[in-house]
Amino acid sequence: MNEQFEIIEDQDDIPSNPTSNPRVADLINARLSRRGFFKGLMATSAVAGAYMATNGVVRAQDASTLTFKSIPQKITKTHAVADGYDANILIRYGDKVVADAPAFVPGAVDAVSQNKQFGYNNDFIAFMPLPVGSDSSDHGLLCVNHEYTNAELMWPGLKDSMGVSQEQALHEIAAHGHSVVEVKKTGGTWQVIDGSKYARRISALDTEMVITGAVAGHDRLKTSSDPTGTRVIGTLNNCAGGKTPWGTILIAEENFNGYFGGDISKTNEERNYKRLGISTDSWYSWVKYFDRFNVEKEPNEPNKFGWMVEIDPYDPTSTPKKRSALGRFKHEGATVILNKDNSVVAYSGDDQRFDYLYKFVASKKFNPNDRAANMDILEDGTLYVAKFNEDGNVNWMPLVHGDGPLTAQNDFNSQADVLIETRRAADLLGATQMDRPEDVEPNPVNGKVYVMLTNNSKRKEANIVNPRVENIHGHVLELTPPGGMGKDADHTADTFTWDIFLLGGNPANSEDKSSYHPGAESWVSCPDNMAVDHKGRLWISTDGAPKSDIPDGMHATDVSGAGRALTKFFFACPEGAEMCGPEFTPDGTTLFVAVQHPADGSTFDAPSTRWPDFADGMPPRPSVVAITKQDGGEIAS
Ligand code: FEO
Ligand code: CA
Ligand code: CA
Repeated sequence: MNEQFEIIEDQDDIPSNPTSNPRVADLINARLSRRGFFKGLMATSAVAGAYMATNGVVRAQDASTLTFKSIPQKITKTHAVADGYDANILIRYGDKVVADAPAFVPGAVDAVSQNKQFGYNNDFIAFMPLPVGSDSSDHGLLCVNHEYTNAELMWPGLKDSMGVSQEQALHEIAAHGHSVVEVKKTGGTWQVIDGSKYARRISALDTEMVITGAVAGHDRLKTSSDPTGTRVIGTLNNCAGGKTPWGTILIAEENFNGYFGGDISKTNEERNYKRLGISTDSWYSWVKYFDRFNVEKEPNEPNKFGWMVEIDPYDPTSTPKKRSALGRFKHEGATVILNKDNSVVAYSGDDQRFDYLYKFVASKKFNPNDRAANMDILEDGTLYVAKFNEDGNVNWMPLVHGDGPLTAQNDFNSQADVLIETRRAADLLGATQMDRPEDVEPNPVNGKVYVMLTNNSKRKEANIVNPRVENIHGHVLELTPPGGMGKDADHTADTFTWDIFLLGGNPANSEDKSSYHPGAESWVSCPDNMAVDHKGRLWISTDGAPKSDIPDGMHATDVSGAGRALTKFFFACPEGAEMCGPEFTPDGTTLFVAVQHPADGSTFDAPSTRWPDFADGMPPRPSVVAITKQDGGEIAS
């Protein structure tokens, strides 16, 4: 999310969650207070001492199992990676995706060409090995989300999207969505295969999708272009995502509210739209030009967005499916884990201040011998929302029509109503208000689940855990399912335990005395996306660190032993950019990362950096970077 949107989100945020459900920071505070972890901390700045004393361990700088040396946390015009590694640009905004795509022309306004080229603001990355079902690490499909556009960096003379022409608005629509490209590593270097039969652009311009599950065909989804309530053109604000064990990908629809405009009080969906932040203050100009984004003209269109979308990247003719069973909110992503009993479980965060953490358990089990039988597993199942307790447990509360308050008395007449208004259903169940849940990722090695809580600048009350008026650095939670380590962890269980893994902030700064990773070589601010390597170590990318004068980028840490929460800084983004999409090849020798919105905060006419090309007249371009170790070995081993 860039700064402009964050300001808009600040305005949008206030009315969004009207409940007084307990905030997770208050519960952390209560829990740690009870334990006496940080007793008296408010009166002292010796956070590191408190943490080490609690654990009885004084950690050496080299306690980490990660073999690279941290790079400086310094903002520059270009990217940086740890010594001994190469970081090569693989694909940029505007590069060719499908076979007949033209070459990129800086500043061009051309939706037809854009719809064949790599979109803007790459976020989630999935590496899908070729052939399908293999664990190939030098040949596969790279599936990449395009979350949003920065009009002011795409064309001259603009401050934001609100000033664009109708032709530019169409170009923006085409620059959203998703790209699938075939990639191959030869001679140690990754390249995009030109003319691949798998190459595909998915956009809100012309990609038809179907809506599946309980919501399909419901009156609240019917529009003038789709009287059946089962279809929709495109997907919006695709942030993070996930992969399934049957070789499909899930892409999230996050801040979809910002594309719609009009007076919501003139629709039958005012309460629903208000809770999601849809208002007359659209973030884009699209509402001026196209009726589908105007709720006064198409009052049900926003109900077709806010879902998780499943795509089979191995079949470029396949129709993407919006999986309503996983709920409707500002999905950051959805990460899938296969339980020992072949149950399929997906975790998803609702990225807004004071919103919730969700889990989905599919009704049907995975069949390891029949891919076709698995393709619609996500059509049906139970969605749960998290309630954190002071005793160290977290309860997963089912969002099922007819249960508790989810009845006609509260205007939930069917499961479709519960899914369309997932947030309101979760409000009524008393779910725990979180500090912006971004990626929620299971770690298959230790069986635990990690929750990136990026920040919450609206936090008013200082407390013992986040002794700042605003939680500007965020934190990471660690959830433990019952059953045991690794594959024995039962992700379907109703109750897990929880702990804090890391609190963001600079341990050297007394203002940031919440830091929870003393002795680390780098400090984390605003954790956003995450990947897990072979050894179960966490790779954490950030979005928002430049507000603290350090670059966004990639940190890595052990999860156990002396190196637990001892972060090291591996990759630094260029000025203005955030880090997204960390994705390893199956053998761990390549790490793909997405550099999103380089030069954010500046303009096409005077960009703060022209990364990655640095050529005269060439604008900054969001790009995917392939990182490999110079000796060809596994990263950080
Ligand atoms: Fe698109 Fe929550 O970041
Ligand atoms: Ca982000
Ligand atoms: Ca994100």
